Amino acid sequence: MTEEDTKDKDSQINRCVVEDICKPFIVSDDVYRQIRDVFLNEIKKGLCKYTNESASVKCYLTFVEKLPNGCERGKFLALDIGGTNFRILLINIDGGRDLKIEVANYELPESVMTGPGRDLFDFLAECLSAFIYKHELQKEELSLGFTFAFPLKKTDLNKGILVTWTKGFSCSGVVNHDVVDLFKEAINRRDDIHINNIVILNDTTGTLISCAWKYREAKISLIIGTGTNMSYLEKTKHIELFKGGVNASPTMIINCESGNFGSDGSLDFVRTPIDVTVDENSVNAGQQIYEKMISGMYLGEIVRLILLECVNAGAMLNGVQSEEIRTPMSLDVKHMSEIEAEESGNNSATRKIFEIMGYKRPSDEDCEHLRYICNVISTRSAHMAAATLATLVNRVGDPFVVIGVDGAVYRKYPNYPQRLRKKLKDLARPEYHFCLKLAEDGSGRGAALLAATVFSKKSSP
Ligand code: BGC
Repeated sequence: MTEEDTKDKDSQINRCVVEDICKPFIVSDDVYRQIRDVFLNEIKKGLCKYTNESASVKCYLTFVEKLPNGCERGKFLALDIGGTNFRILLINIDGGRDLKIEVANYELPESVMTGPGRDLFDFLAECLSAFIYKHELQKEELSLGFTFAFPLKKTDLNKGILVTWTKGFSCSGVVNHDVVDLFKEAINRRDDIHINNIVILNDTTGTLISCAWKYREAKISLIIGTGTNMSYLEKTKHIELFKGGVNASPTMIINCESGNFGSDGSLDFVRTPIDVTVDENSVNAGQQIYEKMISGMYLGEIVRLILLECVNAGAMLNGVQSEEIRTPMSLDVKHMSEIEAEESGNNSATRKIFEIMGYKRPSDEDCEHLRYICNVISTRSAHMAAATLATLVNRVGDPFVVIGVDGAVYRKYPNYPQRLRKKLKDLARPEYHFCLKLAEDGSGRGAALLAATVFSKKSSP
């Protein structure tokens, strides 16, 4: 055997080892169908008054019974928080088909995400005050839609009790409290701005509302970004916890909180030992199991752990562990995007990411393997998202439904929307057609539109 032959043989063996390590993440359509069907059971448990208590998919009531109908008018504020960035929007609805929007973006310091809740709400109120002064709105009677992208137990449109933090937040003194009250207290502490009315909603609910403003067939929304979740329009007769009375409207948006799917063991048939490790190392172990398999906050970590296994098996990077590869959360989904955006054969971006991971001279083969791993993990994410989305498409049961989608993974990850769409087509019933619409800024716009549907009369001149 020549030296070249030995190299080829080693290469083939390495590839086999990498593929073997990735195999548990490559899932058949039968398994995706099973996920779709188990998710339907979980939705039913969440909606049923006898099983809601123990359900992992809580199907929270949103009290959003009316979708915007285009008659809303006026200026409304929205505050949208759900990750390290948050946004304040001023939206002027004047009857045209486009909203006039002023937006300001803010970054939330890490210390605020994990410090006392009082500091978080003071920070939000301070930014809101600066925004109001900048736009000279001090004298206007303004209503505000507050998008709070965490699990909220609502008893009305203007009350939302935080059930638990997700996505790395852990501010003290907020869980089990009404978030609107905490925000109002912070506004009152400042005494320099005045907000008339506040409605609170989840980001998926906002995305659905903003999509419904444009397309009357919109009945489902999905966020796939740092975290994941879905909302959809359910018939109130199926929402057993809703005591709507005779005047209740026939439908209400349900905030599924689908990120928590699997926290009762119902996804164990598809979880891998690496998924279990990701969960065990997280700040909220045992919760948000589905989110930890598919959302942006965790995809890089799954890839890092696979890479580590490949290194330990001697199939990559000469079997050498770098300091960085041993460090949890050192690989970001943004890196994965860059790797997958690169044509096979051109490894310059991939090499840069290897360098960030502590490897100066990876081989072309290492680069190809890493691209393969990223592809397996992002594809599983898109397909798992499609499986639960198929449940909702089938449940809504309209011949044609529009699905509003937002979130950085969907927006920025190469080919993610295509992969999701294709698998959704395979998994939804063939008689139900759908269209996925990117709802950029949907959660903020939706918040302002919700405030508009509720307070339009009071706020219109
Ligand atoms: C939160 C949801 C949110 C989703 C997307 C999850 O972690 O629990 O409330 O809708 O992230 O932002």
